[in-house]
Amino acid sequence: MAGYVVVGTQWGDEGKGKIIDVLGDRADYVVRFQGGNNAGHTVVVNGEKFILHLLPSGMLHGQGKCIIGPGVVVDPKVLLKELDTLEAKGAKVDHLFISDRAHLIMPYHIQLDILKEERSGDNKIGTTKRGIGPCYSDKFSRVGIRAVELLDMELFAKKLQMNLEEKNELFTKIYDAPTMKFEDIFEEYRGYAERLKHRIIDATPEINKALDDDKFVLFEGAQAMMLDINYGTYPYVTSSSPTSGGVTTGVGVSPRKIDRIIGVMKAYTTRVGEGPFVTELNNDLGEKIRQIGGEFGATTGRPRRCGWLDLVVGKYAVDINGLTDVVITKIDVLSGLDTLKICTGYEIDGKVYTTVPAATEKLAYAKPIYEELPGWTEDISNMKDYNELPENCKKYLARVEEYLGCQITVVSVGPDRSQNIFLK
Ligand code: GTP
Repeated sequence: MAGYVVVGTQWGDEGKGKIIDVLGDRADYVVRFQGGNNAGHTVVVNGEKFILHLLPSGMLHGQGKCIIGPGVVVDPKVLLKELDTLEAKGAKVDHLFISDRAHLIMPYHIQLDILKEERSGDNKIGTTKRGIGPCYSDKFSRVGIRAVELLDMELFAKKLQMNLEEKNELFTKIYDAPTMKFEDIFEEYRGYAERLKHRIIDATPEINKALDDDKFVLFEGAQAMMLDINYGTYPYVTSSSPTSGGVTTGVGVSPRKIDRIIGVMKAYTTRVGEGPFVTELNNDLGEKIRQIGGEFGATTGRPRRCGWLDLVVGKYAVDINGLTDVVITKIDVLSGLDTLKICTGYEIDGKVYTTVPAATEKLAYAKPIYEELPGWTEDISNMKDYNELPENCKKYLARVEEYLGCQITVVSVGPDRSQNIFLK
């Protein structure tokens, strides 16, 4: 039995897509367990770049099964578009399946996401406006529509009717926005049902059986630790649990069946959207890292906020996820900097914190406590062996590993599948 989980340890965009892709060629199953098309995994294969928002990154191997799990919210329009795009490029797409328990993103969810953000002014969350939050809200309010309903359009119609009455009232009374028509949505989704019904399955028993039969199942996280609904910088978080615990609730798999939990950690920190970011560099250095690291959102194109590596966040991710491995990515981006800083604590109102406090408002003015380490100048992007790395780069990695108390097993030195150094 081999259940591997890959999660982000910061605010997302750590390069999970590449790592999942590297592991994916051995996987019998690649399973997404949370989030929706707010992810933006970038995978580079033979120099060609693919950005996947909803499909698992493992799709491109064309082998094994790729499953969109019960904990994911699915926009069928986006799903079909991604499948069509991949197919047009000659990729295999018939190995993609959707859990019948996954909730559907409806056009009114997207509209509500947009209207809510616009209305929030300075308090906006900075969502991707793809309807993810409103869809999860409906799920937990127990009025959501699931993929299984696409197999029974009569039931779908009833649920749509009920939802639309309420949503249209919201549009008119709260947002002064136009209403939506039942017939339009019904017809649109009937078309999606026709195209997707053969892919909708009861995924949980199949995944459990695969684990029991010693198959290799890779659980693919989207977003990351600090965007977790419970443990992130609330309310500037996503609406699901991108931490390893999300696998058990989002797929229906026992924690006993998970063998390795791999945390992907960028050698510095980035964040998209609003919310506190203690090690943020609002200066030329931040801009330099953004340019060299290509730190612009894969989903929205928004420039990412950049800063030093925050090990308070890193350690928090090790503990909450129960990481067995850390993969450090994008360390090549740090080549050429004289001095590197790593944050090992926060000072808030004269008190030192070595773990992330719940008070998001206080975190906004926390002062980072840094350790300084010497940098290196060599281009490391073509190095294949740990011993080739510059001494100062090794020292940086050793200090990070020591602070985290978790082994670093892979160091990624470039975007391509082949640019990795395996340490253990
Ligand atoms: P989310 O699920 O949205 O958080 O995405 P992600 O964690 O998969 O991150 P993303 O795919 O956006 O990856 C970040 C970017 O870094 C992509 O453009 C990758 O191709 C690139 N990348 C990944 N690893 C490395 C690396 O080691 N070095 C460099 N220079 N680029 C990398």
